[in-house]
Amino acid sequence: MTPPLRIGFVGGGFITRFHLRSLLQVRDCTVTAVASRTRDSAEEAAALARELGVGSAARAHDSTADLAADPEVDAVWICARNDTRIETGRALLEGARRRPAAAPLRGVAVEKPLARTLGEALEFAALLEELGAPVGYLEDMLFAPHLVRGKEVAWRRGAGVAGRPYLARAAEEHAGPHSKWFWQPEVAGGGVLLDMMCHSLEAARWLLTEPGAPRDSLEPVAVQATTACLKWSQPEYAALLRERYGPEVDWERRPAEDFAHAVVRWRTADGREVVSETTSSWCYVGAGLRHTFDLLGPEYALSVDLADTGARVFFSREVRGEAGEDLVEKQNAEQGLMPISPDEPAHYGYSGENRCFVRAFLEGRAPEPGLGAGLDVMRLLMACYRSAETGAVTDPHDADLVGYHPTFRPRT
Ligand SMILES: NC(=O)c1ccc[n+]([C@@H]2O[C@H](COP(=O)([O-])OP(=O)(O)OC[C@H]3O[C@@H](n4cnc5c(N)ncnc54)[C@H](O)[C@@H]3O)[C@@H](O)[C@H]2O)c1
Repeated sequence: MTPPLRIGFVGGGFITRFHLRSLLQVRDCTVTAVASRTRDSAEEAAALARELGVGSAARAHDSTADLAADPEVDAVWICARNDTRIETGRALLEGARRRPAAAPLRGVAVEKPLARTLGEALEFAALLEELGAPVGYLEDMLFAPHLVRGKEVAWRRGAGVAGRPYLARAAEEHAGPHSKWFWQPEVAGGGVLLDMMCHSLEAARWLLTEPGAPRDSLEPVAVQATTACLKWSQPEYAALLRERYGPEVDWERRPAEDFAHAVVRWRTADGREVVSETTSSWCYVGAGLRHTFDLLGPEYALSVDLADTGARVFFSREVRGEAGEDLVEKQNAEQGLMPISPDEPAHYGYSGENRCFVRAFLEGRAPEPGLGAGLDVMRLLMACYRSAETGAVTDPHDADLVGYHPTFRPRT
């Protein structure tokens, strides 16, 4: 019997909790350690792993380096804030040097986005390459069952008869993220474009890519994007953010974008043009997320709505309860007709993603999507920011994007 992959988490917040719940559906792994900014958050996540039964021996470490040095950890899932990638890479290297030579780390999985800028992502990637373990880029949408099945059927029955798809649309919108740092552009690296369009761009690219074909069979050639701040810089909403998070979050004077739209033109290996159209926002108020995908070909159309969970519950005005996210992620109400998701970690693809990553690391190889995918997405995101800033179409291969920092102009 294969000994299980022993996983250590860096970061003990929202996404770590999602991954822990998803591991209930993943064989051949166990959680042994968590390190986080505070001991308390590491302890909380380790306790959740024990309580769920996905890591009966899970314990908290005081630092990422200690976690990487722990011989009870085989692979690391990096799930900390966007601004900590470089320090995490360095800490992994430091800890890995303390491991017995015969037991190197067997894998590193990194949450999106790979970093805050392309330059930072390349520096982080170099640290991970120095570490020498296989690396995977965590993009759950590529494993969401509705999308996996939809892509398979659209390509087999539709493209197989009528020709390849030429347009993919993806949108992910909600009312705004859950932690203070997401609202601080200098910490997060941006607003909704960086935070959520990474999902939509990669999902759209993947839908347009022939099953089994390499990712470079589709080449991005031109990017045109628009960003705006529609809601959260309005005085009453900016005041709400200050009240919730303190004076460091000031979207009247230091906003990022809460809306982004991008059109990417791609070239196929046989020279055709295909297009992705993606939308992200933090200013959508509905029951939960707005989360849609379309794939259009000459004689067919795939349509997926991940907000349609297949179950609804109605609460009359007489039913008043505490605000929470116990029905669906990014829930905005507790009354009326509300969606409920029977299994969010599986629905959004985390279970499938972690099955793929655990299997790859146990077999000594990098999963797909790998580090290169994370870098490709960062390049596109920076091209989107530059296009939105200049109003011009941007070439995603422009060498200048490596040193490019999106400008978040303070307002006077
Ligand atoms: N795949 C997805 O859909 C998805 C969803 C949410 C977040 N994310 C990504 O996951 C990462 C974490 O986001 P989150 O929502 O869990 O945020 P969060 O605010 O809920 O949690 C962040 C965690 O990081 C820890 N942390 C901060 N600095 C650290 C450091 N230097 N070392 C170790 N731990 C540190 C904090 O203590 C906290 O536990 C981000 O990169 C985010 O973009 C991905």
